[in-house]
Amino acid sequence: MIKLLAFVPSLLVLGAAMFLQEAGNTPETQPFKVPPELVGKTNPVKPTPEGMAHAAKMWTYDCAICHGATGDGNGELAHDMKPAPKDYRDPASLKGLSDGELFYIIQKGKDQMPAEGDRAKPDDIWNMVSLVRSFAKK
Ligand code: HEC
Repeated sequence: MIKLLAFVPSLLVLGAAMFLQEAGNTPETQPFKVPPELVGKTNPVKPTPEGMAHAAKMWTYDCAICHGATGDGNGELAHDMKPAPKDYRDPASLKGLSDGELFYIIQKGKDQMPAEGDRAKPDDIWNMVSLVRSFAKK
């Protein structure tokens, strides 16, 4: 029994090592690269009132915790982040990023931003791109 107990810590170490190796293989740690077909792409989904309402709801659930309810980049989790979320109310904040690049970042995540992944359909993500852009217009 004593021998068996002595064995437990080494199993834990092994488990942790395997976990870390797994984590190292996740796409998040690969160099960030937007696929060429999205790089200069313009948003193909026309914002409708329904689409924007849905995007706003998802923003509240999934995004505001970091990006802030108004897109000001002041969400509760934002403070320790590097790079910190930008203030989207400033039109300069998203200059140089195409709709396709924003789409890709929302879908796949980037650095400390988690991926929306399968939680949102592509059309929903395009609507979120419109929403993110709209913060600067208010
Ligand atoms: C855990 C915090 C966190 C959450 C949740 C989060 N983001 Fe982000 N987001 C970030 C950070 C940090 C960046 C900057 C990443 C970088 O450039 O390295 C970012 C970047 C972005 C960008 C790219 C433009 C830019 O700022 O450079 C968009 C667009 C975006 N987020 C939208 C969203 C949307 C939409 C959601 C919800 C579906 C969301 N984010 C959820 C933290 C978050």
